[in-house]
Amino acid sequence: EEIKASCGTFRSYRGLFLPPGAHTAESLEFAQNFSVEDSDVFGVTYPKSGTIWMQEILPLVLSGGDLTPVQTVVNWDRVPWLEEKRLAQVVDKLVSPRALVTHFQYSFMPPSFRTSKAKVIYVLRNPKDVLVSSYYFHQMAAFLEDPGTFDEFMEIFLDGRVVFGKWTDHVKSWKNAELGDRILFITYEEMVQDLPASIRRISDFLRRNLSEDVIHKIAENCSFQSMKANAMSNFSLCPKEYMDSDKSPFLRKGIAGDWKNHFNSEQLARFKSVITKELEGENFSLPWSL
Ligand code: A3P
Repeated sequence: EEIKASCGTFRSYRGLFLPPGAHTAESLEFAQNFSVEDSDVFGVTYPKSGTIWMQEILPLVLSGGDLTPVQTVVNWDRVPWLEEKRLAQVVDKLVSPRALVTHFQYSFMPPSFRTSKAKVIYVLRNPKDVLVSSYYFHQMAAFLEDPGTFDEFMEIFLDGRVVFGKWTDHVKSWKNAELGDRILFITYEEMVQDLPASIRRISDFLRRNLSEDVIHKIAENCSFQSMKANAMSNFSLCPKEYMDSDKSPFLRKGIAGDWKNHFNSEQLARFKSVITKELEGENFSLPWSL
């Protein structure tokens, strides 16, 4: 079912807005029937929180630093989205241990995920920067409607009238999922601050015993500049009608705290109060102040 929401025409799926095109009834059914293996690793993100960064880091960690996949396979085939139609076309080419990404909230994961031992790396990004990144993404992605003013878009975002729903619902669903040692929470901010240490955390979590040299080689390859220069990772192979990097590049700024250049004091107060209220009573706290 396609419905008109205030910031674009989306596919409505179990109450969530999904971008049409990449998401079809078949792809969503394929995701539900997907047979998760114990060795699978999922990079889970709310959109604009570091998804393509996971598509770069995970294959390198899993392969012990072999650069071939990130130099020869485009990111969306290398670590496909669970929910997108591309998965059906590339699934047979994935080698075990497989890495996938998803923007799904926990309740949308396929039944086989629950009964498996597959691991999750959940990347959490400060929602103020998620909003800013998303604002620019809505300008460059043809499948999303123009976001309007920053003020208007902030209300749409806080209301959850955006693809994959409310940021707070996404975080709550995974924080409350009780996956024990199957899930690692990492922040975009710690990755920006110390990428080698973050890669070490990820590789330890995945029980890869990587040397310092390999960790540094991976970190170098996964820097903002390296990814921006890598055609297999910077979305330059994506048709311009779909994403127009002249309007705003996919790898836009890659920093923590760009919200300071966008929020005025009223917007900040409003944003904080809505998010704080929605997380009231939850038994987890956010790793940064809002
Ligand atoms: P900005 O728009 O703030 O620059 P996603 O992949 O989930 O859509 O997230 C995109 C955001 O992650 C963009 O944020 C992008 O620049 C940032 N990003 C991707 N790779 C990065 C890297 N290697 N270092 C820092 N930021 C990165």
